[in-house]
Amino acid sequence: MILVTGGAGYIGSHACVALLSAGEDVVVFDNFSNSSPKALDRVQAICGKPLAVVEGDVRDQAALEKALSEHGCTAVMHFAGLKSVQDSVAEPLEYYDQNVIGSHRLLRAMRATGVRKIVFSSSATVYGTPQFLPYTEQHPLKAVNPYGRTKLVIEEMLRDQHVSDPSWGIAILRYFNPVGAHESGLIGEDPKGVPNNLVPFVAQVAIGRRDRLNIWGNDYNTPDGTGVRDYIHVMDLADGHVSALKLLDTPQCFAVNLGTGAGSSVLDVIRAFEAASGRPIPYDIKPRRPGDIDAYYAATDYATRLLGWKAVRSLETMCADHWRWQSSNPNGYA
Ligand code: NAD
Ligand code: UFG
Repeated sequence: MILVTGGAGYIGSHACVALLSAGEDVVVFDNFSNSSPKALDRVQAICGKPLAVVEGDVRDQAALEKALSEHGCTAVMHFAGLKSVQDSVAEPLEYYDQNVIGSHRLLRAMRATGVRKIVFSSSATVYGTPQFLPYTEQHPLKAVNPYGRTKLVIEEMLRDQHVSDPSWGIAILRYFNPVGAHESGLIGEDPKGVPNNLVPFVAQVAIGRRDRLNIWGNDYNTPDGTGVRDYIHVMDLADGHVSALKLLDTPQCFAVNLGTGAGSSVLDVIRAFEAASGRPIPYDIKPRRPGDIDAYYAATDYATRLLGWKAVRSLETMCADHWRWQSSNPNGYA
């Protein structure tokens, strides 16, 4: 039985599909602060298999211990937390509380119940300003905003825990830019309020919920001047988690990139989404967004070697699947 914190969220719900499809049993632990229980009904519909749900906060160690022991959990996938760079600058204490304290309580609950395998959602943001590209796992770590620093602190806490007790199995997964949705169109990303990220915003323009996209700068040092990122299909990402979990049968601690290795510009994404949706995406060029980097993408060799995993879905598939979810659920889970 795998305890999935934040399992009702965007990436967590897709990971639940991957886990159930791989034959694992799942208990989701989520406070639904940024998700809907409907996502979990849909996960069960996709897989034709039930999962257990516990409503709770990851900062509640007693509730975690109860869930871990009552469900006989052998491992944890830890997605729960806050993820907006912008909000983390405005509300750093909230980010340290939910992300760092939440992870700390989770590790204590795991230790108390003898569960010693954890897959953690980290982020490429821990690398900070690129000193070289692609980012390899050896790139210096220097987060440049509070959100990134919470991820870095949690990574360090996990590494320290492994040094103190090498019987733990710890997988730190550094995600690049997850987009897309399960191919069924039943689950997908459902941001609250105005989307901050590119693809959800583009999808809402395509469906008519927003008029135009703002492109934050076209004077970057990139082939077409717009920002370049390594977009990865959320189901490829989810499959990467299952591969990482399998390795933890042998105690070890590793940090690995989950990306495709390919960079796409904002204009590449717009063109791919227009083709997938058959809808125009009108846009305006605006000044750069503070804190944005020209370009970054993942080195993928280590993931291939270590996990025997590789992202296989193209940008076209990411956009087609994202559009299927958006067009069949124009208002998300609402
Ligand atoms: P999400 O907001 O969709 O999912 C997070 C889930 O955790 C939600 O279901 C939310 O209700 C739950 N949650 C939040 N705080 C909680 C708490 N205190 N207790 C219990 N549950 C709580 O986000 P996501 O995009 O699925 O991201 C999942 C993880 O991946 C996060 O840790 C995020 O930082 C990390 N990550 C995301 C991205 C991305 O671009 N989406 C990139 C890198 C890393
Ligand atoms: N962009 C626009 N207009 C928008 C939104 C984004 O032009 O409305 C551009 C950005 O300037 C950037 C690119 O699209 O060049 C991607 O931006 P996103 O906001 O989608 O993604 P980021 O790379 O900025 O950040 C994301 C997550 C972070 C995470 C990081 C690395 O938001 O939490 O990926 O994984 F840390």
